[in-house]
Amino acid sequence: MTAEDRVKADLGRLLPLIESRLLAPFQGGEAVKVGEAMRYSLEAGGKRVRPILCLLAAEAVGGRFEDALPGALALECIHTYSLVHDDLPAMDDDDLRRGKPTCHIAFGEAHAILAGDGLLTEAFRLLAAEGSLDAARRVEAITVLAEASGWRGMVGGQALDLEGEQLQDYGLDHLKTIHRLKTGALLRAATELGAVLVGADPSHRAALRAYGEAIGLAFQIQDDILDATASEVALGKRAGKDQDKGKITYPALLGLDGARSALREATESALCPLRSLPNPSSLEAWALHLAQRAS
Ligand code: IPE
Ligand code: IPE
Ligand code: MG
Ligand code: MG
Ligand code: MG
Repeated sequence: MTAEDRVKADLGRLLPLIESRLLAPFQGGEAVKVGEAMRYSLEAGGKRVRPILCLLAAEAVGGRFEDALPGALALECIHTYSLVHDDLPAMDDDDLRRGKPTCHIAFGEAHAILAGDGLLTEAFRLLAAEGSLDAARRVEAITVLAEASGWRGMVGGQALDLEGEQLQDYGLDHLKTIHRLKTGALLRAATELGAVLVGADPSHRAALRAYGEAIGLAFQIQDDILDATASEVALGKRAGKDQDKGKITYPALLGLDGARSALREATESALCPLRSLPNPSSLEAWALHLAQRAS
């Protein structure tokens, strides 16, 4: 089976399950408009990369993907919240996301802020309330997710990314730190959560962390490259924004060729840790697929 066939097969069996479960926690409730705003952003599509990687990580260590499902859903809630807030006028000020007007354009700024808050909080409730999970694994999963999403992870990276718009002089190390935090942390959490939720042994968990870390950097390098090279229609979000905003990106620092070779390097380093796992094929295929993605 080629890598792309494998990716297609994984999407075919996992995506419908993720889509069918994602919206359930956001039905009903008295605060109708904020509920609508959360569902609007969640159901706008999105590649669902984090939940898929979480489920595949569970399988890579010999576990059942079903056991990692609560983690997968929680990850997508947190990711969607990060996008809703990333698009706000005070942050990247974007009006298009997942092919639709951004949450604050559709529902107003205050409700977009609250929708983000609601998605973030619900992610942790989902995990905490998951009775089918062993209690110790549940606590461990919540800890992994909190570290990756909070100020030592994604939130910290977003802060450095915004502060970076004012920096004249920065180096590759600083750029890597931003990317590792703002995007890498949640992707690393995705694969680590898969391991935690199926009770993987520590060496397999460490291998999945290392894979997630490398794939996370690669993912943001490709996001930077796509911002500079792809169309709005392909991306479902505005293109060329990073340069307009003076963002620190791989193409800005290394040029497109330099960015592409950094992407190859990060992808290769994602593959090494997989060698110690019992079922590495899908994660291998996804590393290659994500590096070549067009959106
Ligand atoms: C976009 O993430 C923001 C980054 C962290 C690079 P995705 O490219 O995964 O966005 P969706 O979920 O498919 O919309
Ligand atoms: C976003 O990075 C990272 C997040 C934590 C949301 P970007 O600002 O580059 O993401 P896009 O390009 O708007 O999707
Ligand atoms: Mg941003
Ligand atoms: Mg942005
Ligand atoms: Mg971007």
